[in-house]
Order: sequence, then C-alpha cells, then structure tokens
Amino acid sequence: MTPSESPPQDVTARATKLRQQLQEASYAYYVLDHPTMEDEVYDRLYRELQSLEAQYPQLVTPDSPTQRVGEKPATEFPTVQHAIALYSLENAFTIEEFTDWQGRWQRLAGGDVPSEYVCELKIDGSALALRYENGVLVRGATRGDGTAGEDITPNIKTIRTIPLRLYGNNPPAWAEIRGEALIPLESFQQINQKRQHNGEMPFANPRNAAAGTLRQLDPKVVAARRLDFFAYTLYLPTEYAQIQTQWELLEWLQHFGFKVNPHRQLCSSVSAVEDFYNRWENQRHDLPYMTDGVVVKLNDIALQERLGFTQKFPRWAVALKYPAEEVPTQVVGVSAQVGRTGALTPVAQLKPVQLAGTTVSRASLHNEDRVRELDLHVGDTVVVRKAGEIIPEVVRVMPELRPEEAQPYQLPSTCPVCGSAVLRPAGEAITRCINASCPAILKGSLRHWASREALDIQGMGEKLVAQLVKRRLVASIADLYFLTVAQVADLERMGPKSAGKLVQAIANSKEKPWSRVLYGLGIRHVGSVNAQLLAQRFPSCEQLAKAKASDIESVYGIGSEIAWSIYQWFRTPANQTLIEQLQAAGVTLASEPPAAEEPASFNPQPFQGKTFVLTGTLPTMSRKDAQRFIEQRGGKVTSSVSQKTDYVVVGENPGSKQKKAESFRIPQLQETDLRHLADETT
Ligand code: IVH
Repeated sequence: MTPSESPPQDVTARATKLRQQLQEASYAYYVLDHPTMEDEVYDRLYRELQSLEAQYPQLVTPDSPTQRVGEKPATEFPTVQHAIALYSLENAFTIEEFTDWQGRWQRLAGGDVPSEYVCELKIDGSALALRYENGVLVRGATRGDGTAGEDITPNIKTIRTIPLRLYGNNPPAWAEIRGEALIPLESFQQINQKRQHNGEMPFANPRNAAAGTLRQLDPKVVAARRLDFFAYTLYLPTEYAQIQTQWELLEWLQHFGFKVNPHRQLCSSVSAVEDFYNRWENQRHDLPYMTDGVVVKLNDIALQERLGFTQKFPRWAVALKYPAEEVPTQVVGVSAQVGRTGALTPVAQLKPVQLAGTTVSRASLHNEDRVRELDLHVGDTVVVRKAGEIIPEVVRVMPELRPEEAQPYQLPSTCPVCGSAVLRPAGEAITRCINASCPAILKGSLRHWASREALDIQGMGEKLVAQLVKRRLVASIADLYFLTVAQVADLERMGPKSAGKLVQAIANSKEKPWSRVLYGLGIRHVGSVNAQLLAQRFPSCEQLAKAKASDIESVYGIGSEIAWSIYQWFRTPANQTLIEQLQAAGVTLASEPPAAEEPASFNPQPFQGKTFVLTGTLPTMSRKDAQRFIEQRGGKVTSSVSQKTDYVVVGENPGSKQKKAESFRIPQLQETDLRHLADETT
C-alpha cells in the first residue's frame, strides 16, 4: 500500500471518531480533572490513530491529538502581528487607589452607572494569544510588545489545557483567545533543581520559567515542563455571538473547552472587591501556582466599549496588586557550600528578617557570576525576595548603603572542605571541587543515596552521615553495607537499639529496585524519572554499563547530554569499583519481578493485560529478547493473530501475521514503537 493512496471511507471515519474520543478524554483528564477513560484505553486508541495516520498521512489534521508534540525544533520563531493588540493593565496597590480608579471611569462614563465587577485572580505567568480558524488552533503567539509577538505554535500545542479544536459542532469562523500560561510551583521547583544540578542559572521565578519555557526551541522540552493555561479573554465575529458580559465571556471560554480559573466572583461594591482581594491575598499561598494580585474588570461589555483604552491600558480593568514580598537586610557573611557533585554554591548569611511570613537568614547566590553581577560585598545591604514564594534570593545590592570597610566576596580558590584545588571548566558557570574523595562530596552522595526517592534509608540524617565520614567508617556508598551494629552504636547520640535499626534499614535497602539504585548513584542529569526510563530499557546495571551513548540516547525522553554523562560515568574507574562493591554487598543491580512490599509504581507493568504477536526480524532484539521485554512489563506473547491481539510487532520480512493484523485493524508496532509504548505508558 503506498502512502499516496487515499484512505478508504471507513478508515477516514474511524480516524475522525478516534480524534473525537481522544479529544474528549483529554479534556476530561486535563481541564476537568475528571478522567473518563482508562489510561490504557486512551493509549490504545492513540496508537490506533497513530498507526492509521502513519499508513495514510493525509489523515493527519493539525488538531489531531498526535500532533501535540511532533513538529521539529525551530531555529527561531517568526514574528506575528497581533490582529487585536494585547493591552497591559493599570496597577493599583491599595483599595484607596482602586477607589480612585473607580472614580475616574465613573466620571468618564457620565456618573450614575452601576458598577458591577468581575474579580479574577491575576495569574503571574506569560500572556498568550491564540488564534482559531473554523474551530482549529492555527496559531499561538507570545504577547511581545503587545502589537507583535513570536509565533510559538508548536510549543503551545504541547499545553494539554489548550484545546487543539474548539468544542462544539458549530465553531466560529475565527476566534482570538487570550490567557495566561503558567508553570505550577511544583514543576518550577523541579525545573530549578535540575538547572542548578546541571550548572545552569535557575529561573528567578515561575513567570520567568514560563516565559523561558515557551521560547524553548525544542517542543519536547516544553512538553516535559508541564505548562498550564487559564483563558480570560475572547474575541469572536459579531455575527457569531454577541457576548454581553465578562462573566458570560468566561463561560463561553469554558464551553469552548478552555480552563478558566474557578476563583472568580461578581462584586457590586468596593467593599466586595476588597473582601475578594483580602481573601486571596491570604489564601494565595495555598494555590499551586503564583498569583500577584487580582484583576477587576467591568462586567458590562457595552460599558467597556464606551470607555475604551488609553495608550497602554483598558479603562475598564485594573490590576489590584499584592504588596511586593521584598525586604532589605544586611549580609553578615558569605560561605561556599560544597554539594554532592562538588559544586561550590555561594550562600549569603543574612541578618534575620521576616519575609512573607517566615524568618529568612540565608539566601542562595547561585554561582560566581551572579555574585559578580550583583557586585556583592560582605556588609552590604541587599534586597531579598521570596522567588516563587519558595526560595529566598538576593535581588539587588544597595551600594549607597555600603560600609567603607566592606570587602567584595570572592569564591575560594580551594575547596573549603578538603582544601583541594577547585576548577571552573571553560563555558560553565559552576566551580567544582575536583577531589573525588572530598568529604563534602562523600557526605552529599551518602545523603542522596539514603534519600526518599533513592534507597530510602530512614535514620541517615545529616549529623549521622557527618559522623560516619569523620570517623572514616565509610569512604564510599558501598561501605554502608559493611557497617556493624557495634560501630554505629559507638557514634554520638546512638545506642545499640537505634544502631540496630539503622543497620537493618541499610540492609533492607538492598532490596530496593534497580531504578532507585540507579537514581541513588547520583549520576549527573539522572533524576528519578530518567532513572525509571533507563531501568526499563536497561534492566540491569551490566547492560547499562555496556551500552553505547547512542543506545542510551535512543530511550524516549533521554537527551544526548544525559546519555553522554551516563556513558562517561560508567567509564570512570572509581565508579566501576563502586559498582563492583555494591554487587558484592548484594545491592539490587537488575530488575526482578516485583517484590510484594514494593509499590507497583516502582515496578511498572505498562503492558499489563495486553497481548502481543511478533512477526519478522526486529532490528536489535531477538525473538526471545522481545518476548522477555514484553513479559517483564506484564504483557503476553502469543503465536497467532486473533481479535484478542492488542498489538502486532512487525520486523523485516513479516509473514502472514501482518496481513491478518491489517485485516483485523490491529495496531502494528515497529521495535522502536514497542520501546516507546513501554516508556510512555508508565
Ligand atoms: S486581562 C485588556 N486578566 O496581567 C485585558 N490579565 O499586568 C488585559 N494577567 O498582560 C488582560 N491574569 O498577562 C487579565 N485574569 C487576568 C489576568 C491577566 C494575569 C496578566 C496578563 C497581562 C498582565 C498585566
């Protein structure tokens, strides 16, 4: 069958049906947060659509769920003129300023006009302009300067809460939607941890993270960062609908399939607005995303149109901002902390101050360049801020308050822990201690090994680890497994009972699955998610250790940098010794059938209940390998194709089984699809 052949009618109908079912399930899952379809069913339908589209590329539509991450990374983004400009908002910082603003629009409107407002949360993200034509998303752009932005359509398509097609059977000829893209606080923290780990500058706040992510050239990176979107404005052809109020407009957005922030309220007086503002100023820390105020809009759209815009702002809306969470304090010292990768992080010691409800006495300065950029001196008065309401950071220095004796801070040229030389490789922002046996690196590695997501060894806190290292009881992770109760009982604040418990906890950790061990090794760029992906493809340490960087990179979700880092790690003699020692200690270095006490999530069974048939020669797996691969993931392999077969895995020179699969419309997988399916469905 050649791809140019047009698809039979029933295939076209099936594809349409699949698109619709998948779109509905995705909306229920992401927007309504109320799943209506089993993940496995979704995956199966998705695969079916993918295989129909692969067979007949004419079937691919821009709004197909398969197009969420597909397009190639861009080299740069084209500029687009906004058909309707994106205005900014005037700010009010107090309720008095709000009342002044109200007085101004009322005078313009000629006095006695009822002031009904819609209060919405002001989401601190990045504004987007979306264009739909005949119901299909054709373009998504950044705000830019308000009149022209950047066309970032492939990135926008990865945001699950942005429908690729408007809901409803009778879409408008065009629709312009505006709203705010955001990074939830939890993802923000994860992204920054990863960036810091990789020696990159962390994002200052979730707004910058959202804006930075949207302008990523590779949509796969965007997809991994879990952006979300709240819609707040809609423009439609007047002949399609005449929307009377902002409240109604938000409901229209919801009908079209958008997520609209649920925390909104109609307010008919200044005091009602004030209550809404006060309530959300207190409760905003309970929200999983950042807000920086509330937006108050006149509800009546006819009145909005009468009032119009100034050069920059609509006259009918105002941002009632929360007070800034920045305070000045003095830097009493700066120290360099050494982490488990040997990275030296300058940390400012501050005269304690109250900031957003907590006492802050330390703030990260990230790296040497940041210290230089700030021109930070010990003794300086600095402004500190809660970035993303989580990590305090130094925003700026106030040089006018600098005491005469203040000295600029410089990162030490030797490791403050072991005294060895430190190195900052060209092109990198991070300075590292290069002594592999630096006690700080060892301590950090032990803490990481014992952490909850790794080997989860209870009782291995900072103080205990410090003693183990100081008394030279452990010189590597593997030494933990040879500790005796007597040795541990001899440590400060330890007795035979607590020592026995710790030694037992360490022994129990040997049973933790290979994916956790891999994460625990602390290889650069290998987080817990990557470790799980890798452990699925390389079910033993031996296989991973032998793998070429290109094999590692072929794991879905693993990029070349990670692959290279892993490849290098296994070629370092000290690491090879560590693996040998861990093996001797009896630590799990290969996947096994799930142990009864392991939660299922750590031993994923993505193919549970699925039946596969193999045909033809696969590029890298033998028939036996493929069978083992499927069975290890909970699937079944049978020898003949029937209506009950879920997938047929097709290699070179397939036999009659493929023909049968075609006639039964059973999804066909190549070896790479099989691997992707295993990765994606966990
Ligand atoms: S309305 C003409 N509503 O705040 C209407 N904006 O500081 C202008 N923002 O650029 C926007 N949440 O990116 C509106 N509920 C909301 C908002 C909101 C966040 C952002 C938007 C705007 C910025 C102005």
